[in-house]
Amino acid sequence: MKQLYIETLGCAMNMRDTEHIIAELTKKESYELCTDAKDADFIIINTCSVREKPVNKLFSEIGVFNKIKKEGAKIGICGCTASHLGDEIFKRAPSVDFVLGARNVSKVIKAVNTKKFIDIDIDYDESSYAFSEFRNSIHKAFVNISIGCDKKCTYCIVPHTRGEEISIPLELIVQEARKAAQNGAKEIFLLGQNVNNYGKKFSSKPKEKIDFSDLLNIVSEIKEVERIRFTSPHPLHMDDKFLETFANNPKVCKSMHMPLQSGSTHILEKMKRGYTKEWFLNRALKLRELVPNVSISTDIIVAFPGESDEDFMESLDVMEQVKFEQIFAFKYSSRPLTQAAEFTNQIDDEIGSIRLKKLQDMQNEILDEISILRKNVVYKVYFEELKNNGMIAGRSDNNALVQIEGGKELLGTIGKVLITNPRRLALYGKIIN
Ligand code: SAH
Ligand code: SF4
Ligand code: F3S
Repeated sequence: MKQLYIETLGCAMNMRDTEHIIAELTKKESYELCTDAKDADFIIINTCSVREKPVNKLFSEIGVFNKIKKEGAKIGICGCTASHLGDEIFKRAPSVDFVLGARNVSKVIKAVNTKKFIDIDIDYDESSYAFSEFRNSIHKAFVNISIGCDKKCTYCIVPHTRGEEISIPLELIVQEARKAAQNGAKEIFLLGQNVNNYGKKFSSKPKEKIDFSDLLNIVSEIKEVERIRFTSPHPLHMDDKFLETFANNPKVCKSMHMPLQSGSTHILEKMKRGYTKEWFLNRALKLRELVPNVSISTDIIVAFPGESDEDFMESLDVMEQVKFEQIFAFKYSSRPLTQAAEFTNQIDDEIGSIRLKKLQDMQNEILDEISILRKNVVYKVYFEELKNNGMIAGRSDNNALVQIEGGKELLGTIGKVLITNPRRLALYGKIIN
């Protein structure tokens, strides 16, 4: 057997792409997965392009692999950086053997078997391709529901690396979710760049119209599925039907990612996000009203070109009003191919750092406030990960990270936990019956 080592950067969609690559190469070719790059015959890096940092990291990473890889071992580059740099990767790193774009994962067998293979076609449609099966976890199953993204947020490179948005046929999604659930995955995690835009466009028109709320209800009818999560929904498409389905379907986990990006309507317009501060607040507060125990996470970009102090304060104001349970905050990073890269009012890096720090300090205060309220609350926790220190970790229905003392007999079970020691990043407690 040939040995395959694969490293994954970026988002959940990349993690699922990695599972597809492993599936294709281990089920249809004679590869097996190894955990040390030194043993590998093929080293694959599944890359991310969303900010500049991971792209720079890629070339230093290739340098490290060149040093440690065994004689004759090959290196392949997949993912979003493969899509956007293409041929340039061969030029900057001649030891690389193939470059395969994010939307071309189904061609990976050809890629490993062809010298200096390159395919970065962003119009390629693999939305109906049935990949072989491989999953990193038997407890939680990622299931793609769309490819690409049809938004053109002015800061974002993703539409240029993953191409236009196409929904995956319902039958494929249901078949995959059912199979995973029957193999032990109590939780199905639906993936797409704009999940709540599901059903707008298929490669061949389905018999009946369908939207994301319908999809949630259909997946929840699979008997073995106990929990459904999804990422990322777009605030623009959070209509009442969607919020009500989210609230009323008991299998849908009560955690919602609402990527704000900016609290300033003026900046949101420059970002081409399609909603205002008021719309975002209206949706978030409606969600809190419909689902009192909901946890809301968000993404915020600071120092987008032209962001004034007042604009930045608007982001802090939304944080104050919504009190997000989790925030992923990023300093704006100028990306090639995007419109915002051409804007002339770019902001000093130093100002970006100051704003990022301010935002994180404020979020820590909010988290301290929120976590005190978790004491003595009972959560239903799906135990997924054994820790080294005799603890086991899992997520509550509303996505809080919970840890208790316990061993592998709890793995893959859902139990009730009383929180005794709530901390900022994890809640500690004990199991009750
Ligand atoms: N489709 C998802 C986002 C995928 S990218 C959505 O719309 O929410 C994940 C996050 O990276 C984005 O939400 C955004 O906050 C951040 N991001 C994207 N491009 C960026 C850039 N150029 N600079 C900084 N952060 C960026
Ligand atoms: Fe990027 Fe916007 Fe698409 Fe999200 S919705 S992937 S931020 S273009
Ligand atoms: Fe994901 Fe990074 Fe591509 S966030 S979509 S892997 S650019």
